[in-house]
Amino acid sequence: MVKISVIGAGNVGSTTVQRLAELEPGEIVMTDIVEGMPQGKALDLMQAGTINGYDTRITGTNDYADIANSDLVIITAGIARKPGMSREDLIKTNSKIIGDVAGNIAKYAPNSIVINVTNPLDIITYVAMKATGFDPEKVFGMSGVLDAGRFASFIAEELKCSKRDVEAMVIGGHGDLMVPLPQYTTVSGIPLPELLPEKTIDRLVERTVNGGAEIVELLKQGSAFYAPSAAIVRMAEAVIKDSRRVLPASAYLEGQYGQKGIYFGVPVKLGANGIEEILELKLEDSQCEILKKSSETIRKGISKLEI
Ligand code: APR
Repeated sequence: MVKISVIGAGNVGSTTVQRLAELEPGEIVMTDIVEGMPQGKALDLMQAGTINGYDTRITGTNDYADIANSDLVIITAGIARKPGMSREDLIKTNSKIIGDVAGNIAKYAPNSIVINVTNPLDIITYVAMKATGFDPEKVFGMSGVLDAGRFASFIAEELKCSKRDVEAMVIGGHGDLMVPLPQYTTVSGIPLPELLPEKTIDRLVERTVNGGAEIVELLKQGSAFYAPSAAIVRMAEAVIKDSRRVLPASAYLEGQYGQKGIYFGVPVKLGANGIEEILELKLEDSQCEILKKSSETIRKGISKLEI
């Protein structure tokens, strides 16, 4: 039996629990600082189980002691963007929250794997790793699966083909400098550049980079949560089933892609031990340039942290 804890029972957290429950991992605990809210959502999700046909035990709590001995902890606590805000605008508030959250994870679930979702993703994942004191391969962030999902969705729409046949790859920081990789994106094995002209691909790349902001603008309050939760569950499933899926994740780099000491979106092999391997890809010069700029933004964010 696997125990999963989800910290933060807001839009992303509760939608993630709903999807995870259907995998029947055994037990899911959802925690939040708002009294009664995680308990109420947990009851609702337990009752959905009789209709949906899952036997997952779901509880809500305001007490970190209840995450004891979790195998996997997913962090979704903190504030989300409002229109006009960049993910970087969330650094101060969310780094404080995650410092506290991570301390509790280290105390109560010292052997867990940690997936961070709170933004700004690459910087907050760094905070989570430092504040838990866990090995870097056990703490990583969800970004590329979501960004690649957005890219794939725009490609399928453009080609009028099934979403199932599109496999996209997006690396780099989870922000305005992310790097969608058309040369490593395929439609049923066919490289994307064979199917669409460069100009069209550029347009889809740009929409992908602004994919989160497009939704924030429309929602007026809060940010996306359906695709983010789907992406989290894809990663969580790879960990709890030890399936060693090859997916992009925000991983701690120790020399790969010319970077050291920061979290950055790269393709990895995900399994029961977390990041089992980081895969290095050959990139075009222009893509390397954006990666360099993106890493500088992340370093700047880290230097501002009070940890
Ligand atoms: N401990 C636990 N929960 C907390 C804490 C804390 N210290 N601080 C805040 N929370 C809770 C809030 O009470 C809220 O219920 O985190 C939840 C966040 O939920 P939402 O505001 O709905 O935000 P959401 O859309 O879920 O996004 C959460 O994920 O995608 C990222 O950018 C997004 O950083 C944001 C995070």
